[in-house]
Amino acid sequence: MLLLAVAAGWRMWGTVLPPTVSEGETPRQPSARPTPSVFTPAHRTLGDAVEAFFGIRPEAVQPIAFSHRVHVENDLGCTDYCHPHATEGPQAGLPSLRTCMLCHATIATEHPEIQKMTAYEERGEDVTWQRVFGFVRSAHVRFNHAPHVRADVACATCHGDVGSQTVAQRLDLTMGQCIDCHEAQQAAIECVTCHF
Ligand code: HEC
Ligand code: HEC
Ligand code: HEC
Ligand code: HEC
Repeated sequence: MLLLAVAAGWRMWGTVLPPTVSEGETPRQPSARPTPSVFTPAHRTLGDAVEAFFGIRPEAVQPIAFSHRVHVENDLGCTDYCHPHATEGPQAGLPSLRTCMLCHATIATEHPEIQKMTAYEERGEDVTWQRVFGFVRSAHVRFNHAPHVRADVACATCHGDVGSQTVAQRLDLTMGQCIDCHEAQQAAIECVTCHF
């Protein structure tokens, strides 16, 4: 209760306080202050703030019982259909339902999970996959897949043996693990390499 009161107080203070401008100084851009739709610059909602404060990272619950193992056993590579952007840029990306249906319009159509997917398609909805990896916003981490793929760092180094899992399980990467490898492989270790 106290936390809520303090948090609510901070929010009101943030929005009510007039900008401080001393003589001769140009007023600061209003966009630098929290807008009413954002709880604080680091936390979009009160829920986000409370979760970050207690270090809570809820386990992802996926809408479709997807199995990485079944697909890897069928010789699908990670970047073939589902995560091709990992080789090109910062984000690996999650596949859209359309990508799944390239195969599942004809493969395993009687499977109950595939029938769920067909129903999504008929309703014109996409599957809302929950994110598994990622850093809390307040850590201001910037990550980029492509340089790692170019340097032949295997996906499993950071994600574990996803090919033996059903839905992906999170491995928490600490800053120490990033830096240990960067030092060993002579990659950059300046703070701005990984933070904004
Ligand atoms: C390149 C083709 C291909 C793509 C793309 C693909 N799958 Fe599959 N999927 C398969 C094959 C092959 C099987 C195995 C079918 C079998 O054993 O009868 C399979 C099996 C499945 C099954 C049944 C799993 C089980 O436990 O037996 C589910 C559910 C599934 N896929 C979901 C998905 C979802 C969700 C996506 C998109 C994120 C996707 N698939 C993308 C080829 C594909
Ligand atoms: C050096 C470590 C590292 C390597 C190697 C790596 N990843 Fe990642 N991956 C990450 C990190 C860190 C994130 C979270 C990034 C973020 O939040 O911007 C991530 C996120 C992802 C996501 C998004 C997951 C989600 O829950 O939203 C996918 C998919 C993914 N990686 C696939 C791959 C694939 C495929 C490969 C190999 C081609 C790969 N990654 C190699 C570290 C790595
Ligand atoms: C297993 C080794 C390894 C791990 C673990 C690793 N990296 Fe890297 N990283 C590399 C290599 C190798 C490069 C490529 C360096 C180059 O191209 O000169 C790289 C490049 C980068 C770049 C691009 C740097 C540039 O100069 O453009 C960023 C950003 C980065 N890593 C962030 C991270 C973060 C954040 C983590 C932890 C979540 C991480 N890395 C974990 C090996 C690793
Ligand atoms: C190779 C990548 C990399 C480099 C270089 C790096 N960091 Fe980090 N840092 C990270 C990652 C990834 C995290 C998030 C780890 C986590 O969530 O457990 C992090 C977390 C942090 C945090 C904690 C933030 C929070 O809110 O939890 C601080 C503070 C920090 N870094 C400061 C620095 C400083 C200062 C430097 C330069 C001396 C630096 N980092 C260099 C990758 C890096």
